[in-house]
Amino acid sequence: MLNKIAVAYVDAVDVDKAKKVAKKWQLDYIGDIAAIKNYPKLLFALQVNLQRLELSKLDEPKLGAICVDFVDGATAHRRKFGGGRGQDIAKAVGLKHGFTPHVLDATAGLGRDAFVLATLGCNVTMMERMPIVAALLEDGLERAKLSTEINDITDRMNLINSSSIENMNLAQQPDVIYLDPMYPHREKSAAVKKEMRVFQSLVGEDLDADNLLAPAIALAKYRVVVKRPSYAPPLAGKTPSTSINMKKNRFDVYVNQAIPKNN
Ligand SMILES: C[S@@+](CC[C@H](N)C(=O)[O-])C[C@H]1O[C@@H](n2cnc3c(N)ncnc32)[C@H](O)[C@@H]1O
Repeated sequence: MLNKIAVAYVDAVDVDKAKKVAKKWQLDYIGDIAAIKNYPKLLFALQVNLQRLELSKLDEPKLGAICVDFVDGATAHRRKFGGGRGQDIAKAVGLKHGFTPHVLDATAGLGRDAFVLATLGCNVTMMERMPIVAALLEDGLERAKLSTEINDITDRMNLINSSSIENMNLAQQPDVIYLDPMYPHREKSAAVKKEMRVFQSLVGEDLDADNLLAPAIALAKYRVVVKRPSYAPPLAGKTPSTSINMKKNRFDVYVNQAIPKNN
């Protein structure tokens, strides 16, 4: 009996990679994507397409496939034109006065925030508990490492496939811990980007997210930053030291000690 997700290849040149991915992440393997019709109970396909790993939701093919691509697309645009250390996320993690923290991103997801922080010079340890998401992220990192344009950035990123609630301390002495757990979305689904709809239906809601805050505050040297939708209460109901408000989201900052000046 297959689980709801299986690995497949689109083109025969990708057979080896597809088998490797299935083995590494302990996922079911069905071979050629054309065989998918024989598995009507599958909800998602993780397919290797021209050496790239993509996830698609089988009952909503119009949403398209998601993949982690640090080289092109939105991440590349933000890297070039995103506002550098003036960005809210940079302010939230304390990237000022020349201080460049080691950040533990304990809810890594597709690694977009982690990539922004690594672009700004931070070493980022990413922790992601879902094997499928970690597989997509690792694939994105591996392809980025082949790009001479950005491999210096991705060399600062490393990934641990584990739950950070239990295993946060696998990351060595992070200066800052960054948390962005899933929050129940109240926007109508049509307003949510197609890519996010695939991701949300895979990950669901991180209902245990409140349990992230206490271990994070215990471990972070300087501060914990939590990204929240503007309408959401603070994580674990704990009032932050300060918040940075944006249009749809805010960063709640829990300060353990002041960030050193002129570091
Ligand atoms: C909203 S997404 C994060 C998006 C990410 N900030 C980005 O920029 O791509 C939340 C992610 O955190 C992961 N997650 C939630 N709780 C976790 C935990 N305790 N340990 C590790 N990962 C966790 C979920 O599986 C999901 O992939």
